[in-house]
Amino acid sequence: MRNTAEKGAVKKYIANLRRKIQYHNYRYYVLDEPEISDAKYDQLFQELKELEQKHPELVTADSPTQRIGAEPLEKFDRYEHSIPMLSLNSVTTREEVRDFDERVRRMLGEVEEEVEYVVEPKIDGLAIELVYVNSVFTAGSTRGDGKTGEDITQNLKTIKTIPLRLFSDDGVRVRDSDSNHDSDRDQLLEVRGEVFIPVNKFKELNAELEARDEKIFANPRNAAAGSVRQLNPRVTASRHLDFFPYGIGKVEGKKFLRQTEILDYLRKVGFKVNPLIRQFDEIENVIRYYDALKERRNELDYEIDGIVVKINKIEQQEKLGVIARSPRWAIAYKFPAREEFTVVNAIQVQVGRTGVLTPVAVLEPVQIAGVTVSRASLHNEDELMRKDVRIGDTIVVKRAGDVIPEVVSVIKSKRTGIEREFQMPRRCPVCGARVIKEGPILRCIGVSCSAQLKERIKYFASPHALNIKGLGEKIIEQLVDREMVSDAADLFFLSKNDLMKLERVGDKSAENIRNALEKSKNTTFSRLLYAIGIRHVGEQTASLLADKFKDIDTLRAARYEDLIQIPEIGQEVAKSILLFFEQDSTDELLKKLERAGVRCDEHVYGKKAVAGTDLGAEEEVEWWSAEKILDGKTFVFTGQISITREEARSIVERAGGNVALSVSKRTDYLVVGEEAGSKLEKAEELGVKIIDEDAFRAMVGYLFRSWNKERNKKK
Ligand code: IVH
Repeated sequence: MRNTAEKGAVKKYIANLRRKIQYHNYRYYVLDEPEISDAKYDQLFQELKELEQKHPELVTADSPTQRIGAEPLEKFDRYEHSIPMLSLNSVTTREEVRDFDERVRRMLGEVEEEVEYVVEPKIDGLAIELVYVNSVFTAGSTRGDGKTGEDITQNLKTIKTIPLRLFSDDGVRVRDSDSNHDSDRDQLLEVRGEVFIPVNKFKELNAELEARDEKIFANPRNAAAGSVRQLNPRVTASRHLDFFPYGIGKVEGKKFLRQTEILDYLRKVGFKVNPLIRQFDEIENVIRYYDALKERRNELDYEIDGIVVKINKIEQQEKLGVIARSPRWAIAYKFPAREEFTVVNAIQVQVGRTGVLTPVAVLEPVQIAGVTVSRASLHNEDELMRKDVRIGDTIVVKRAGDVIPEVVSVIKSKRTGIEREFQMPRRCPVCGARVIKEGPILRCIGVSCSAQLKERIKYFASPHALNIKGLGEKIIEQLVDREMVSDAADLFFLSKNDLMKLERVGDKSAENIRNALEKSKNTTFSRLLYAIGIRHVGEQTASLLADKFKDIDTLRAARYEDLIQIPEIGQEVAKSILLFFEQDSTDELLKKLERAGVRCDEHVYGKKAVAGTDLGAEEEVEWWSAEKILDGKTFVFTGQISITREEARSIVERAGGNVALSVSKRTDYLVVGEEAGSKLEKAEELGVKIIDEDAFRAMVGYLFRSWNKERNKKK
């Protein structure tokens, strides 16, 4: 009997905790107005996680802990939409928009009936549908062909702005799981909208892919689509996708009279509705708003490719109906494409950091959406052949997102016969070494290729690597061309006089570069690992490796089996790491770096934080000895303390101790915060030492101080 009562209490407690977390998640991700600190949020989350671990039978599908963690799929199931997902007719001129207005008014006939327009930005992402049954997110799918899409439920769960459970629509209050419907019928709501990737996240993703030598996405839309269609939800989770709803599919138990009502409702139940949506009565005002948004397009942190003009009243929408899978009550009024015509003046071959040969079209300069474009990537030999781009051709060039412009297609009808075909070289155009073909990629295998060396040094000095300020492209190129450096480590042996020999480097800038070089020597293992440019090791992998292996020697000693054991490290990455350390040049580079005094002490505090954030080489980092004051001691934390569980764990582990999730005979200390739970009783029962946060701080004082210092700097 007592057990059931206790179970009930735990269940209630957990439900309450979930509600709290859901609310704070909403404040943070949807409203961008957090009410509590990240630490506090993490603490709530950790508590829920621990409770769910203890009571796995109480885990629910809409628990915030269920956003990540699903296992990879082999393939996606098909998902049939209950109501087809339509597409929009698009127009590009004012006249066409005015025609739309006339047509609509004519068809609606009644003169007395007013037309209201809702204007929404047309988000350039991927259309999806979310199904909520009794307010709980139960399925999510892609649009597919409109009738059948793919079931991507697990992936969509990782998107923080997609609620796993809806608030009730009379305010930000979560429905009670048992009382959210009075009849026996389940309540259904299908929400439709666009998944997208914010532009800055898109840039970061491409930088990361590039560093790992992987194919980058041509534009944010492809990145969003590619990320949402990942078989491994963890990959999707790492992509920082976002979501704007713009409509509904099937609904039961609700009737809406206007599109604006639908949007208001969606906002109330917890969605992030796009803030740029406006309502107008006059089509001329719609056109004005289009012009205004077109101007602001580049300031937004997501891509839009036009506006969507919708008739507001549902009754009028129904009157107008649908024709050939497009509603007659809405149109897409698209922005001009970021594409232009121009002529290919030449084709050059660029040699990258890892020796990859990339054909680049040198163009007759052309303005695209306010930017002068004079070069465009042709990606690789296969692409060059597929598109059949020849010197002298008139082509269509596109600026997509912020990536390098791209040759879209050749206007073959413009050919006069004097165009010249281009062959990719079989030897490196820079160093003359042999070129090998790896799939569609050609790679120079020259060990002392100066083009590769320039790129390697640029990479080494870049902000997320050693962040050597003032060491720009032009300087690096001169250093390599004058053979003043033969690898990145040589930079540290350059004197001020050496630097002053370079063009456009005066006394002051030579001094600045020298200082920047000195400063960059104090770095973190993770940055150094990234900087030395191991193929397939981007920033995230570097941070992970730095976490698992405490220094370069330990990593160097790692065997294939050790590396492959880390879940995030695949065969290719593992092989690439081993290959890197087998090279004589690596040996030489590392020795030189050591001689130069480059230090990345394993005990740099906040090693992990440093790698992923801006906390970096230019910041003063506190150093300390590796005194293992908590050697072998096991700690358990309970209740609310001022740091996150992850931070607490990191402190304990750095001092040589361990953290366990539950109290047992093997526990040495239980650290109790406010609102301590059952762990306290258990510890008392077992005679485990119980201390409060202050006592814990006193034990690990110096670690704590450095932690706080780092955290404050970060803020
Ligand atoms: S409404 C019945 N609203 O544009 C109308 N679509 O071809 C269905 N899109 O597949 C779409 N932003 O992916 C609508 N505010 C918005 C939109 C939007 C982007 C996309 C959506 C759809 C395509 C239309």
